[in-house]
Amino acid sequence: MTLDGAPQPAAGPAPQPVTQPVAAPLTGAAIFLVVTLRPGPASDAAVRDLCGDLGGLLRAVGFRDLHGKLTCVVGFGEQMWDRLAGPGRPAGLHPFREIRAGDRHAVATPGDLLFHIRAERMDLCFELATHITSRLGDILDSVDEVHGFRYFDDRDLIGFVDGTENPVGDDAVRATVIGAEDPAYAGGSYVIVQKYLHDLDTWNTLPTEEQERIVGRTKLTDIELDDTVKPTYAHNALTTITENGEEIKIVRDNMPFGHAAQGEFGTYFIGYARSPAPIEQMLVNMFAGRPPGNYDRLLDISRAVTGSLFFVPSMPLLESLADDPADSGAAEAGPGENSTAEDGGDDDQAAGPAAPPGTGSLGIGSLRGVTQHG
Ligand code: HEM
Repeated sequence: MTLDGAPQPAAGPAPQPVTQPVAAPLTGAAIFLVVTLRPGPASDAAVRDLCGDLGGLLRAVGFRDLHGKLTCVVGFGEQMWDRLAGPGRPAGLHPFREIRAGDRHAVATPGDLLFHIRAERMDLCFELATHITSRLGDILDSVDEVHGFRYFDDRDLIGFVDGTENPVGDDAVRATVIGAEDPAYAGGSYVIVQKYLHDLDTWNTLPTEEQERIVGRTKLTDIELDDTVKPTYAHNALTTITENGEEIKIVRDNMPFGHAAQGEFGTYFIGYARSPAPIEQMLVNMFAGRPPGNYDRLLDISRAVTGSLFFVPSMPLLESLADDPADSGAAEAGPGENSTAEDGGDDDQAAGPAAPPGTGSLGIGSLRGVTQHG
């Protein structure tokens, strides 16, 4: 069973290692858990246990309503990854890069682990979040827990449909899953999260036409504005980026959240991509502007209060983290020395020669370099 609840094939060719369900379809509910953990061996051991147990927990909770489409994606911050996986790091894994421009600020906030829990029903999300947090128990240092809900026609709380231009199917996989460019981590992904709070009182004083120019789409019908009327500062203009004439897509699963009585109205931004670079470029365009100064007017009424970047390992790599090399003496050669998929293909599972025991790194050489797409 995989983290998206799909059964493994019973027979036939060797099962292909799979990515975590980063490109899962939009759901009715989500919980975003960003946690930091106390340093030390007890913490590392608890996380390893969780990596091994997560599939079972997901199976147990998800089976209570298979139509509920419960999934969970686990991401690792740079420091946590180094603690668990030892030497060698995915090419794009680094701390979230904060941006300051004018009075706009994309803050960087700490995060060791991200759990992106999605389902049609909040009770499924909540149940899984409860099991996860109780497993981490005493080692939790801080937790940012946001409960997102689907709002009318997939709108965010500023009233616009959010998610329309997401790639789907193979395009979503191509946009999000690491391939041959970093073979040791093929099948993985990157995710950036930011929690935004909106000043809805101010937003609602703007005429609808002005709001539409800020977003770049019509509000009621969700049609993209024609280039002749769309400002260069429109949100969908600044977040459209191209490389060698080709548009670079990311997969977003933003969710509204809030506390009505406290006047808190927010959008939880979550973006997956096979490299953090496109999302980082979009953030620069939004906060600093393209060209500089031509910034995203959504930021006049939206404030980012968190910002973190995580690596999402493939399923086999995630499961391999459960094994503490100190227990087994297992070790591996560094990435590149013992990678198995030079071409990002999915037919090469042969383990390389065993590295000498006791080098302190994980025995995951045979698990790296596998992917679900060629
Ligand atoms: C205040 C937070 C945000 C809100 C309320 C918001 C809302 C929206 C809306 C309403 C759309 C148009 C519909 C759609 O295609 O989904 C959109 C598009 C998009 N947004 Fe955001 N967004 C936010 C933050 C971000 C951030 C931080 C990024 C990336 C760093 C981003 C990237 C994109 C992209 C790539 C598109 C599609 C552009 C296109 O291809 O037309 N958004 N967003």
